[in-house]
Formats: sequence, structure tokens, C-alpha cells
Amino acid sequence: MSLPPTVANAAPGRGHLLRLAPGESVVTLDRHLALGGFSAVRKALVMGPQAVADEVRRANLRGRGGAGFPAGVKWGFLPKDSPKPRYLVINADEGEPGTFKDRYFLERDPFPMLEGMIVSAYAIGAKTAYLYVRGEFVKPIAMLERAVEQLHRGGYLGKSVLGSSFGLDIHVHPGAGAYVCGEESALLESLEGKPGRPRNKPPFPAVVGLFGCPTIINNVETMACVRLIADVGAERFVAMGLPKDGGPKIYGLSGHVKRPGLYEAPMGTPLRKLVYDFGGGTIDDRPIKGIIPGGSSTPVLGSEHLDVAMDFDSVKAAGSMLGTGAVTVFTEGTCAVRLLTRLAAFYAHESCGQCTPCRDGTGWMERVVSAIEEGRGRPGDCDLLLSIANQIMGNTICALGDAAAMPVIAFVERYRAEFEEHVARGGCPFEGGHGHGHGHGHEGGNP
Ligand SMILES: Cc1cc2nc3c(=O)[nH]c(=O)nc-3n(C[C@H](O)[C@H](O)[C@H](O)COP(=O)(O)O)c2cc1C
Repeated sequence: MSLPPTVANAAPGRGHLLRLAPGESVVTLDRHLALGGFSAVRKALVMGPQAVADEVRRANLRGRGGAGFPAGVKWGFLPKDSPKPRYLVINADEGEPGTFKDRYFLERDPFPMLEGMIVSAYAIGAKTAYLYVRGEFVKPIAMLERAVEQLHRGGYLGKSVLGSSFGLDIHVHPGAGAYVCGEESALLESLEGKPGRPRNKPPFPAVVGLFGCPTIINNVETMACVRLIADVGAERFVAMGLPKDGGPKIYGLSGHVKRPGLYEAPMGTPLRKLVYDFGGGTIDDRPIKGIIPGGSSTPVLGSEHLDVAMDFDSVKAAGSMLGTGAVTVFTEGTCAVRLLTRLAAFYAHESCGQCTPCRDGTGWMERVVSAIEEGRGRPGDCDLLLSIANQIMGNTICALGDAAAMPVIAFVERYRAEFEEHVARGGCPFEGGHGHGHGHGHEGGNP
């Protein structure tokens, strides 16, 4: 398990979030301290919880887990008068194909995230915080446990954080090995020791969360941003991005680009800059066929979208989603149908089975897309796919259903002619594709 070759900052030198200097592989606690570590916690303890929460709200920090919900607003949903304890839960389950940004913090630079957790727990009044880490990240989990232990020994955690009256414990919890456990309410179920099945909402976790208590769930990168806000203040944070979408963003680049990797840049950096300046353009300078802008569930865009600014509102206006900012580029010569078979198989495998439209629909979509790719497609399959996907959209307890349906809709709409060509010629026209014309039809009826 290792990160792609390039972990780079858009600006020369250390970034605000990506801090690894050339040749450095891990930022240790000593190094973190040498870089001014825990100044954010010290400042927060002087400001007081409400002032920290206000600062985060003013910074217009939008959650980095995918949905882009403003962190300060979410914190404001905590009931003011509940006698129950409050919990902070950090979502480090990172399972969306194409997304590998949180791993940077988990594997290489955990202290900004941990510091952000201390600041956030202080601001929301939590005395216990959980770090729910994707179960497959075996080495990072061991490293994070050591990091938390170091913080306890150093007086940064425990009964009295840096000698103050504020106490905090952080528990590292290995995830249950399922993508759906990244969905916040499934994560809470899993953390409680139950199967990771999403809960009906409302009530939202801020009101009824972990063990029935008010709970804030935020993403790893969101925590690193909270630390930055406490350190430099809301105004400077906003200036690092956009007025309504503050701060720097870690973008991931993968697929057919010359320099895949992680790049820190201001929120709202144009897609073209990411692909061509940071990524060095496409392999062999081939024309772009499609760009998945924010993790595999986000609707695919085309080269006509290269000037779209990569922030939550702009990508939405372009018909897709910023999601996790994990950009996957594929060039001409890539079979769109084959690409979709991989995505459809992933979502079918990861459906938890709780809701009928998702349980049956994801498997059905996978079978139809595979049949088209393998030369067993039938006329009308494109409309069948759109019909199944549209019956999943909005009809499930959690957003995994939408996540499975959106790429199907976007791929069929954008590459419909290619799907139909597969059906017409009875196979894949691309290199390495499946055989032609000897199919027997797929089971497109009731699954
Ligand atoms: C199926 C599914 C998987 C998800 N996986 C993750 C994940 O791995 N990490 C993450 O931070 N958010 C994930 N989310 C989003 C979370 O439900 C939640 O919105 C997020 O953790 C909130 O953090 P934020 O407000 O800081 O963005 C997922 C959502 C869904 C529907």
C-alpha cells in the first residue's frame, strides 16, 4: 500500500495541507512541532469554544468528505440543551474509487488532522472523539495508534489538554471493510459494533448520533482545514479559496495523465490547470475522452468542461459534483462501456442490501452493462439502464444508491452512441474487447 508517485504542492515549498518536503516521507511529531505544531490548539484554548466555532463558520469551510456541507453550519445543529455527552467522529473510511487524499494524512502526516480533531472537539464540547479508519489501512492504523499515544504522553490529549481544563480522548477504530461504512450513519452503526447499515434520517447525527448522543461527523481533510482556520483565522482561510467556499483543497489526479498524484491548490482552481499544469497533460498527449471530477460516483464531464472551476458550486453548475476532488482522466481509445462495467460492479458489490432499489438495481445495472460490453446487449438497453438508474435515484435510505446511479446515467447520456454500437455489432469495438456477434441475450428482466 503506497501513495501514487507524486505528492506535490501546486506552490513551491510546503503547502498548507500537503506539507511533505522533497525527500521527506513522514512528518513526525518532532517535525510537526518544529513546523509550529499545536499553535492552533493553543490559540483555540485562548479563544474559547464558541469563538472557535464562530471562526469556522465565518471561514466558509465546506466539508471535504464529498457533499460539501458547511462545517460551521453542521456544528450549529447540535442541540444546545441536551444533557447527553457529545461525540466527534472523524470519517477516515476513504473508499470511493479514485479518491486517495485522506490517505496522505493517515500514512504520512497525521498530526494536522489530530490537531484539528482537538480544536473541533473543544469547539463543539466533545470529550471523546473517534477516528474511524478504513480497515484495509492496516499500517496507518498502527501508526495512528502510536501517534495518539504520543499525544497522550506529551499532554496534548488526556484529562487536561496542554494544562487546560479541557480534556479529550481519541480512539482509533478500524473500519469494517465496506464502502457503505463511509456513509456517516452506517459508520455510526459500525462504530457501535453493529453491521454497517445506514440509518433513516432525520434524525441527523448532530441530534441523535453515536450511542444515541449528539454527534458531529467530519472528514479527515476537513479536520486539517479546521486546524488551519484556528491557526491563521477565518479571513486568511477564505482568502486561500473562494468567499463562499474557503481554503485550499487537496486535489487528486489519476488516470491517463503524465503526473498522477495529490496537488494542493486554492479551492476553485480550474480543471485545465489541474490536468495540464499539475498533471502535465495526458499520456502521449492523447485527446481527453472524459473526466470524472470528484470520485467515481460523480457524473463524467468532457473536455468542454476544462475551464470549470473546481469548487462545489461551479462543478454542480456544470452538471456534476466536486465530490472529493479526485479527478480521473481518461483519453480517446478507452471503452466507456468497459469503464462503466468496473464502476457498476463496484457499486453492486458494495450495496448493503437494505433498500430494494439499490440492492436489486445495482446488480441489474451491472448485468446489463456487462452484457453490452460482452456482446450480449439488446436494443433498448440504454433506456433500460436509464430507467433502472432513475428508479434508484432518491429512493434509498442513503446516497449509495445515487452514487451507483449517477455514473450510469452520465455515461449512457454522454457515450450513448458507443453503447449502441456495442449492441449493434454484438461486441466491444475497442482493443481487448469481448467477442462479436455470438451472444445469447442477458437476463434483463427481474433480477
Ligand atoms: C456510500 C457513501 C460513502 C461515503 N464514504 C465517505 C468516506 O469514505 N469518507 C468521508 O469523509 N465521507 C464519506 N461519505 C460522506 C459522509 O456520509 C459524510 O457526509 C462526511 O463524512 C461528512 O464529512 P464532511 O462534512 O467533513 O464532508 C460517504 C457517503 C456515502 C453515501
